[in-house]
Amino acid sequence: MPPSAARPAPVDREKVPAHVAIIMDGNGRWARQRGLPRIEGHRRGVETVRTVTNAARELGVRMLTLYAFSVENWKRPQDEVGALMGLLEFYLKKELKTFVKDRVRLRTIGRIEDLPAGVQKHLRHTIAETAHFTDYTLVLALNYGSRTEVVDAARAYAAAVAAGKEKLNDGSWTTFNRYLSTADLPDPDLIIRTSGETRLSNFLLLQGAYAELVFTPVLWPDFTKADLAEACAEYARRERRYGLTSEQIKPAPAASS
Ligand code: FPP
Repeated sequence: MPPSAARPAPVDREKVPAHVAIIMDGNGRWARQRGLPRIEGHRRGVETVRTVTNAARELGVRMLTLYAFSVENWKRPQDEVGALMGLLEFYLKKELKTFVKDRVRLRTIGRIEDLPAGVQKHLRHTIAETAHFTDYTLVLALNYGSRTEVVDAARAYAAAVAAGKEKLNDGSWTTFNRYLSTADLPDPDLIIRTSGETRLSNFLLLQGAYAELVFTPVLWPDFTKADLAEACAEYARRERRYGLTSEQIKPAPAASS
C-alpha cells in the first residue's frame, strides 16, 4: 500500500470492514528519525489514535480495536512504561467528553487488573459512562497478549467444567470462545499493522483466524485517514472464502422465468 495519499481512497460502503484492528507500530522510529526521545513518538501516537478513532467512524467502521500495550511491553525501560501509562491516563481523562459527544462506547481486552490504579479507575469510569452507546465501539487492548488470553480462558473453562457448569464433551469453538476476553465482540475483519513490520506479535491470533491482513510502511504517528481508507479499499478488493471455493461464495444467478 502506498504511504499517505493526499485524498482518502473512495470506499464502497457495502464492503467497509465492520471491525478493524490495528497494531500501532513505529512510534520509536518516528521519534528517532527526528532526533526526539521515544516518548515524543508515543505522544504523537496518541494524536493519531484520536484521528483514526474519528476516521474509522466516518468511514462506517463499527468497531476499532487498538493494540495499545502488550503483555511483553512491560519489559521496556521503566521510564518508557511509566510514560506510556501516564499518556494513557491523560488520554482517558481528556477523551471522556469526546466519547460522550460522539457516542463512542469504550471497551478493553487484556489483563486490566495489572495496570496502575489510576489507569484502572479512569478505564472503569469511561467504560461505565459509555456502555449504552451501540453504534461504534473503541476497544483498547491493554496488557493484552493472545497466549496469555488463551491460558486464562483455558483455566476458566476447566474451572467451569470442574464446577459442573460446562460439559467437557460438548466443548466446541463456540463454547471456548465465551471464555476469551473478546467473548461478546465480533472477530476482526481487517487487521492493519503500521511501520513495515509483517508480524502479528501475539495480537488476536484466534480471533483473526479469517481476518484480512494489511501491512503498511507508514509509521503510526504519520498514519492518516487516507491510509485507513486505503487499507479499507484493499480489504474491499479481497475475496473472503472461509475455506470455501470462489464459486461457492458467489451469489447464485437469478433464476430466469
Ligand atoms: C509501538 O511503537 C507502539 C507501542 C508499543 C505503544 C502504542 C501506544 C500509543 C500509540 C500511545 C498510547 C495509546 C493510547 C490508546 C492512548 P514502538 O515504540 O514499538 O515503535 P518502534 O518499533 O519504532 O520502536
